[in-house]
Amino acid sequence: MKLLLLCLGLILVCAQQKENSDVALRNFDIPKISGEWYSIFLASDVKEKIEQNGSMRIFVDLIRVLDNSSLYGEYQTKVNGECTEFSVVADKTEEDGVYSVKYDGYNVLRISEFGNNEHMILYLVNFDKDRPYQLLEFYAREPDVSPEIKEEFVKIVQKQGIVKENIIDLTQTDRCFQLRGNGVGQA
Ligand SMILES: *[C@@H]1O[C@H](CO)[C@@H](O)[C@H](O)[C@H]1NC(C)=O
Ligand SMILES: *[C@@H]1O[C@H](CO)[C@@H](O)[C@H](O)[C@H]1NC(C)=O
Repeated sequence: MKLLLLCLGLILVCAQQKENSDVALRNFDIPKISGEWYSIFLASDVKEKIEQNGSMRIFVDLIRVLDNSSLYGEYQTKVNGECTEFSVVADKTEEDGVYSVKYDGYNVLRISEFGNNEHMILYLVNFDKDRPYQLLEFYAREPDVSPEIKEEFVKIVQKQGIVKENIIDLTQTDRCFQLRGNGVGQA
């Protein structure tokens, strides 16, 4: 069953890259992924997942490449209004730039570079329930990006069939910076 889901996930995630071939999306240069990141946008075809108290309303802190090529990520989320830390490990699949991760069910994700290695897009398919849903996360090295880059991201999301109303600009919300180790980005 798990293998079947992985295969289905790969098909979806790979199809996504093909469709996007006209925009400047490439596989991320994984050795360069380590370090601090900021969540800028969340988008999903199931909006409640990214709304307040939604399981996918998560904010990245940092990502590290582990010795076994898996990715380790530290995140914040709000539980009952309180910022809370958690970590996840995503394992490499046979496909370059594609990982699998258990979080709120089973997920397959593709990491794309957008512009340069200062920006990345995580395109994720979640298999929690009978129906898979999509999630796109936009991360940057800085707490905010230019309006032009934001427009580009919105276009990419819309190409995936996700409506504008289901895109959340997290720079307008509390991203739990108060829990970040070094206080960078604190308002
Ligand atoms: C890689 O190492 C991490 C941390 O020890 C572990 O959680 C993960 O399951 C490992 N992945 C694989 C594919 O062995
Ligand atoms: C989220 O949870 C908090 C605390 O339990 C609650 O006060 C708030 O109304 C919830 N928000 C939504 C949109 O459900």
